[in-house]
Amino acid sequence: RAMKRVLSGIQPTGAIHIGNYLGAIKQWVEIGERLGKDALFCIVDYHALTNPDAYDPERLPQRTFEAALANMAAGLDPEKITLFVQSHVPEHTELSWIFTTQTPVGDLTRMTQYKDKSAKLKSVPAGLLMYPVLQAADILIYKADTVPVGEDQLQHLELTREIARRFNHAFGDTFPEPKALLNPKAPRVPGIDGAAKMSKSVGNTIELLEEPKSIWEKLRAAPTDPARVRRNDPGDPSRCLIFKYHTYFSPPEVQEAVAEGCRTAGIGCVDCKKLLFDRMMEVLGPIQERAAELRQNPEVVEAALEDGARRARAIAQETMHEVRVKIGL
Ligand code: ADP
Ligand code: NA
Repeated sequence: RAMKRVLSGIQPTGAIHIGNYLGAIKQWVEIGERLGKDALFCIVDYHALTNPDAYDPERLPQRTFEAALANMAAGLDPEKITLFVQSHVPEHTELSWIFTTQTPVGDLTRMTQYKDKSAKLKSVPAGLLMYPVLQAADILIYKADTVPVGEDQLQHLELTREIARRFNHAFGDTFPEPKALLNPKAPRVPGIDGAAKMSKSVGNTIELLEEPKSIWEKLRAAPTDPARVRRNDPGDPSRCLIFKYHTYFSPPEVQEAVAEGCRTAGIGCVDCKKLLFDRMMEVLGPIQERAAELRQNPEVVEAALEDGARRARAIAQETMHEVRVKIGL
């Protein structure tokens, strides 16, 4: 399917982890290779404000910078694609406000993510309810036709399509109805604690830029097949978190060797973890080297974000002009 313009975002709520990398950023890099400047990648700091646990005004600038740096180190080239910070393009919030005036509250209160997140809070910020409307503005302000998403974002994207439809119906054809790009090859990476999903908010991550020593400590302590109690007990690779990670980082012959070694107790779990660690660092090492270089030259990251914002803002302002005229402002 032809895609012309793609928007994707990541929240600056904590260090980027290997789940983000394998499940999202790697695909973004591929999309960027194909689309160039029409691949827009946004660090969504306005969204981060709605997360009362993770939001800290003292730390937000650093986290935003770190998110940009990690994405650049992971292969997003800001000279090819458009990498920017959401709040550098304040038109997102203007379009979002206009959309809120056209969106029934009931469409927002029925969002699964809203229900889950608000249930955990004593006082629910209105911004949490409006979150998917801002997300719609993030996408539609660039008239993006394609949005790479995980399963858990499909409902929000459907709402974006509904918002586009409603606007077009009321004010004339303006926005495309963006389609979801679900990548069947993108794994859902389990947490280092064995939980089904690695997540910043749970704190069960291996960070993309984590110290090798710290990564090894986490791997060493990670659960394996519970049936392998002693070194000589045979195991079942399909029940082992470490084997799962091997499938992300190791070539097929290593995967086969450790699977066979596990089933026959020919290899112990610690040795299996060491092999994984080496393969993992072969992938993460070059990323971490690029990150260290960028950290030495923060002005390179800042300049990239300024340039990205300039490009994104030119498109956003054009859309806003069109919208203002159509709605009578
Ligand atoms: P987190 O859940 O850690 O806060 P985000 O919600 O910021 O991560 O997600 C950023 C991107 O990374 C999204 O595209 C999301 O689908 C992807 N992602 C997050 N966690 C994982 C994971 N464990 N496995 C695969 N992809 C993931
Ligand atoms: Na998340």
